[in-house]
Amino acid sequence: MSKLSDRRIEQLALAAVDVCGRAYAPYSQFEVGAAILMQDGQVIAGCNVENASYGLSLCAERAAAAAAVSAGYRNWRGVAIASVGGVPPCGACRQFLAEFGLNTPIILVNLIDGARTVCNLSELLPRSFGAGDLPEPA
Ligand code: THU
Repeated sequence: MSKLSDRRIEQLALAAVDVCGRAYAPYSQFEVGAAILMQDGQVIAGCNVENASYGLSLCAERAAAAAAVSAGYRNWRGVAIASVGGVPPCGACRQFLAEFGLNTPIILVNLIDGARTVCNLSELLPRSFGAGDLPEPA
């Protein structure tokens, strides 16, 4: 698994905590922040954005990933996710993040006790489906 320095982990964790404060979660009250570290050191973040039409709600990880891709980044060094409980990403977000690197380090930040848990996306999404599973275009 690719390694991040303690300093990078801390930088990313703080960015995830920071953006978590901007979450729009009036329906679930469950606020999530995600921050992605790019190869050049830039950090791009996103929060969950809920909607009165519940199913349209957007997870923080996908908000951050879409912002990163929109800014021209597709190669990531790590993703930090902050929430009460330090929960792991939902299945949809695991798949979405895997598109840009199954070996990405994931830092789970628990807002209650400040704990940081580092794992790897490949552990969270074993036997994954990806671009390599698609047939060659005719
Ligand atoms: N949520 C995320 O932002 N990321 C996840 O991986 C899990 C769930 C959000 C979606 C919704 O706004 C709230 O948490 C409750 O499910």
